[in-house]
Amino acid sequence: MIYRCLFVFISLLTSLPVISGEMNEVRAKYNYQMFCQGCHTPKGIGGRGVPKIKGFIGHFPKSQKGREYLIRVPGSANSVLDNLQLAEVLNWMIKTFGEDSVEEGWRPYETEEVANYRQNPLMEVEEYRKALLRELAVQE
Ligand code: HEC
Repeated sequence: MIYRCLFVFISLLTSLPVISGEMNEVRAKYNYQMFCQGCHTPKGIGGRGVPKIKGFIGHFPKSQKGREYLIRVPGSANSVLDNLQLAEVLNWMIKTFGEDSVEEGWRPYETEEVANYRQNPLMEVEEYRKALLRELAVQE
């Protein structure tokens, strides 16, 4: 019975219209837990080849290329999430884990740009990421 209620509750949540802009925080957190945290860990620490998001992810949207990178990385681009939900999860990750790395006045992701850039998923992420970090002049 309790599982049934939980299921109905979750179904309701995921079908809720977006309340504030691109951000349904409850749904974003749920999607992160379901589809991302297995690798990215509950606190965004990563490990075993998965980069640390905590205190770092906010550097990427400082340039347009970095902004696109967060969408084009395979874990994002190839996820089962639709464009709105992916925008939401990325915004949630930046808000929740970004800490000091997030620039003031940072502009949240919108559905259309996610739809657009995820059509070109990155193939060789490692080198691309290194070059990007050099361009952004940030070190891990
Ligand atoms: C199977 C493990 C796995 C899952 C599941 C996963 N990722 Fe990732 N993610 C990675 C790895 C590994 C990287 C490093 C880049 C690469 O090699 O693809 C990465 C990098 C990223 C980055 C860029 C961070 C950086 O510092 O380079 C973002 C953003 C991201 N993932 C988002 C997501 C989202 C959103 C989800 C859930 C919808 C997700 N990932 C699910 C493994 C995963």
